[in-house]
Amino acid sequence: MSMPEVLSFQSVSLYRGNKVILKDTSLDLPLSGIILLSGENGAGKSTILRACLGLTSLQKGNILFAGNNPKDSRKSVGYMPQSLNDDALMIPAINHVASGIDGTKWGFPINFKSKRKKAEHFLHMTNSLGFAKRPLGFLSGGERQRVGLALALTGEPKWLILDEPFSGLDHKSQDEIVLLLLKLVKKLSLSILMTSHETRSLDGIVDHVVELEKGQLHVRI
Ligand SMILES: Nc1ncnc2c1ncn2[C@@H]1O[C@H](COP(=O)(O)OP(=O)(O)O)[C@@H](O)[C@H]1O
Ligand SMILES: [Mg+2]
Repeated sequence: MSMPEVLSFQSVSLYRGNKVILKDTSLDLPLSGIILLSGENGAGKSTILRACLGLTSLQKGNILFAGNNPKDSRKSVGYMPQSLNDDALMIPAINHVASGIDGTKWGFPINFKSKRKKAEHFLHMTNSLGFAKRPLGFLSGGERQRVGLALALTGEPKWLILDEPFSGLDHKSQDEIVLLLLKLVKKLSLSILMTSHETRSLDGIVDHVVELEKGQLHVRI
């Protein structure tokens, strides 16, 4: 039996301006199933996710993703940021997803037609094919999150990092996203690290809960 891979925080200190987000924090989290990072607004959840992706540097210590530093594991991680760039609002969903697909295969450029086919595959996986041609700005919050998930899947990641995938969604759309995440975990053997302050939809589906409080990470489940 193999040991589960871990996300390892090793004596991590992380500050933003004069705000302490993590202070000399050490913790190993098993990378399996769905891990929820909770904590108050402004506590630093998004910043921690960005540090796990190598997009923000630490003041001290290391974060290791299954033994690799964040920049080296970037290829195995799909990321859905908290909010969409305004520039993206006029882009049709399918083009948005296609933008995540590498334009080369075995060193040869792949044409837009095969990119579209691949994008359609990921839209299908997130139940989004029905509005593939619509610009993102004309989609509901839940539809837009599903397209965001399709984009996060384009690199065929082992892990997904999702920042507030439920923010601004009504209960019905939240439940749809939850079902979709469970399907992805099962079908693609993905693990998910996500933040949310909306935990109603998550009862019974998360495998681990970690709370960020006063610069420390506390394992709750
Ligand atoms: N680039 C930055 N420069 C200075 N302060 C920042 C920067 N980014 C975030 N912050 C501050 O860091 C804190 C944590 O922000 P964030 O990670 O977005 O929290 P959360 O996701 O938990 O709501 C907030 O107080 C925010 O104002
Ligand atoms: Mg946030």
